[in-house]
Amino acid sequence: MKATDQVTITFTSRSANEGFARACAACFAAQLDPTLDEVADIKTAVSEAVTNAIVHAYPDRLGKITLRLRLYEEGWLEIQVKDSGVGIPDVDKARTPLYTTGGEERSGMGFTIMESFMDKLKVRSQPGKGTTVTMRKRLAPRAGGAR
Ligand SMILES: Nc1ncnc2c1ncn2[C@@H]1O[C@H](COP(=O)(O)OP(=O)(O)OP(=O)(O)O)[C@@H](O)[C@H]1O
Ligand SMILES: [Mg+2]
Repeated sequence: MKATDQVTITFTSRSANEGFARACAACFAAQLDPTLDEVADIKTAVSEAVTNAIVHAYPDRLGKITLRLRLYEEGWLEIQVKDSGVGIPDVDKARTPLYTTGGEERSGMGFTIMESFMDKLKVRSQPGKGTTVTMRKRLAPRAGGAR
């Protein structure tokens, strides 16, 4: 499938940029005339993925995070969050609800939330090289909409 629109943004893994990334994704999705619920789902999923990159990928340094937003036909929105951090040794285990390496501050629900708010979730990771999280959501057709 060929993307009909694409935006790529690279930012530093500062916690202030979590809100920035979330807002970027919502603005990009606005051209699909999403419902408020859809916007909320997208923002939450981006927030979880970017927070993971900020806290887990670069635990003791600042690094680069790339957010890639793509639009496909029939209302499919793809969101990719990529880091070049520590990576995840066992992705299946990391995706298990309540699994966390973050101690008591974290609940281990990030991936589960991304999965439930988006239609598809793919996690690719290489220890020492980084992680790429790809999420897709199909925005439901609306009467008179541009999808
Ligand atoms: N980008 C990443 N780089 C390295 N490790 C990651 C990354 N994303 C997730 N992980 C690992 O996967 C685990 C599970 O992530 P998940 O988002 O589900 O839970 P959490 O971040 O620990 O807690 P919560 O998201 O509920 O605050 C993390 O604890 C961490 O070990
Ligand atoms: Mg998390």
